[in-house]
Amino acid sequence: MRVTVLDHPLVAHKLSVLRDKDTSSPVFRLLVEELVTLLAYEATRDVRVEPVTIQTPVAQAQGIALTRPRPLVVPILRAGLGMLEGMTRLIPTAEVGFLGMARDDATLDIITYAERLPDDLTGRQVYVLDPMLATGGTLSEAIKFLYRRGAEQITCVCLLAAPEGLARLEKELQDSEVNVVLASVDERLDENSYIVPGLGDAGDRLYGVVD
Ligand code: URA
Repeated sequence: MRVTVLDHPLVAHKLSVLRDKDTSSPVFRLLVEELVTLLAYEATRDVRVEPVTIQTPVAQAQGIALTRPRPLVVPILRAGLGMLEGMTRLIPTAEVGFLGMARDDATLDIITYAERLPDDLTGRQVYVLDPMLATGGTLSEAIKFLYRRGAEQITCVCLLAAPEGLARLEKELQDSEVNVVLASVDERLDENSYIVPGLGDAGDRLYGVVD
């Protein structure tokens, strides 16, 4: 597993405002989009391209273009949805699939409650969006699911991670090549599996509380 934490003053500044409990939902949403665009720049460093010949107003030139199949962006519902706009702003030609995963309170298993993805992901580069890599349970199930479908390379774009979540991904995905691109690795998880210091419940801060 390759973990990249973006070290940039603009990322650190935006993240600080995001963490502030007094930041309103509209500002929070905007900042998430901006941060994801910055993270996406790093996350797409290995995006597949091919050479193309183009004609400038002055001369012929060699350039590159994204290859097909196009990259697939998969936000994990619900909070990952808040990251979609920021990601597709950078790669507008990407396809988008959706994965809804949640913990079953009775069994503690991760269940897939919604899925809208191509049946066959053979050869696809997939970018998974999930703002909070907390216990790592959901993300590791999502990654396994996408690899079972045939995905060739998976990059996770997250805002924050807890060391415990990264350790779990490392342990559970030993045989798979996974990239994780982040704005910060925080201190730890608390007793409710919230990231500390974190930013609270990302879904609630994006979309309000729905219980
Ligand atoms: N999910 C969140 O939204 N916040 C956390 O701190 C952990 C998981």
